[in-house]
Amino acid sequence: MSDETQDEPWADSLVAQLLADHREIEGTLGRLDELADNELGNYVCELREQLLRHEKAEETVVYRALRDAVPDGDRIAQECLTEQAEVDETLAELESRHWSRAGYRGELTELRISVLAHARHEEREVFPRLTAHEPVERLAELGEQYEKAMADQPTHRHSDGTTPPRLYALPNPVEELGDSVQA
Ligand SMILES: [Fe+2]
Repeated sequence: MSDETQDEPWADSLVAQLLADHREIEGTLGRLDELADNELGNYVCELREQLLRHEKAEETVVYRALRDAVPDGDRIAQECLTEQAEVDETLAELESRHWSRAGYRGELTELRISVLAHARHEEREVFPRLTAHEPVERLAELGEQYEKAMADQPTHRHSDGTTPPRLYALPNPVEELGDSVQA
């Protein structure tokens, strides 16, 4: 007899989490066109933090499993890591420059194409191979490891030691009110 209240075994699996993360990253990338130029600096910091967290967790869990369990996994992992390194390098470079520099938005738009292509590459070449070569129980275990790796990633810091500002940080209404009362 089936238990309808039981969660889908796939719900917490590694691949389900990876796909959910990819959709979140795509959401961040999709916001680029709505941003004013003077919001691009903060946006780059946000995007970089989100991508680094995902990439580091993938490196410690996904690519390790790929190498261990999948024939030719080494080669595929290396291809993906090379793509990732190129994206990281561009993002680090953009973060070190001011948003007002010529070509800033254009480079970000190019970067978006690269990130989306990298995500498609993983979804086409990596995730199906993992599901084909790892049993469901192992994928669930890897999902737990991935979740822990994501939680354990340190917050990205700028080279000056500060943490990135929130992209859509809202002003504190109490402080705003206090300022206007004192003015
Ligand atoms: Fe990914």
